[in-house]
Amino acid sequence: MNQPLVIAHRGAKGEAPENTLAAFRLGLEQGCDAIELDIHLSQDGEIIVIHDFTIDRTTDRKGVVHEMTLAELKQADAGRWFDTRFEGERIPTLEEVFDLVPPDIMINVEIKDSYDRKLEPALVELMKKKDRVHNVVVSSFDHKSLMFLKLLLPETKIGLLYDFNPGSHVNLATGLGVPVYSLHPNFKRINREEIREAKSKGIEVYPYTINDEKRLRKAIAYGASGIITDYPGRLRDILADQ
Ligand code: G3P
Ligand code: CA
Repeated sequence: MNQPLVIAHRGAKGEAPENTLAAFRLGLEQGCDAIELDIHLSQDGEIIVIHDFTIDRTTDRKGVVHEMTLAELKQADAGRWFDTRFEGERIPTLEEVFDLVPPDIMINVEIKDSYDRKLEPALVELMKKKDRVHNVVVSSFDHKSLMFLKLLLPETKIGLLYDFNPGSHVNLATGLGVPVYSLHPNFKRINREEIREAKSKGIEVYPYTINDEKRLRKAIAYGASGIITDYPGRLRDILADQ
C-alpha cells in the first residue's frame, strides 16, 4: 500500500507556535513530507505567513495583517504566547519559508484572502523567483482565486479546499474547467470510495485536519494521498508500524 504524505499543518502546530519557522523546523525534524501554511498580504505587499486576519491570537501585539507593514509585523513576538521556550519567534514571510524548507519537501500554501486579486500575482512572482513552482500546491476555500492563479501561471498546482458534501468530489474538481491537482476536504466529508475514485482520476486527496490516532489510522486505511495533521511525528510513528 502506498503511504500517505505526512503534511505538517501550520508546521507541527500541536507542539510549536503555528506558522513560525520553529514549527516548520520541528515538522521537518519529525520527518514530514510536506508543510501546510497560510498566507496574507501585508500593507506593503509582502506575502506573510499567518492564519488569522489579525495578529491578535498568535502574537503579543494587536493589528490587522493587511493594515500593517512588514517592519511593523516583524516587531511582534509570535512564539511566547505558545510557550516561553519559543520567545523571539517572528511572523515569517513566505520567502523566508521557501529559504528554510528543502526543495524535496512539498509546501502547501493556503491563500486565506486574495486582497482584490493582488496576492496571486505576488505569489506567482515569488514561486518563480525561488524556483518553487513545481513543489508547491496552492490551496484555498476561494476557488476563484485558484482559477486566477491558473490563468497567471498554468503549471501552478492547485488544490480545492472545502467543508461541504459536494455530491461528487470528482465533479467538484472537473467542474472547475482547469486541471486540479488535489482535493483538500474536511475529513468528515469524504469516504474510502470517494478517495479511491478521485485517485483513479489522477487527483490527489489531502484531507484535513486529522490528529487522533484512531482517525489517522482510518485516513491511512482509506488510502488518502496525504494527511494534514498538527502532529506529524505521531503520524510518522504510525506509518513506521505499517
Ligand atoms: O489546509 C487545511 C486546513 O488548514 C484548512 O483550515 O483553518 O486550518 O486553515 P485552517
Ligand atoms: Ca490552513
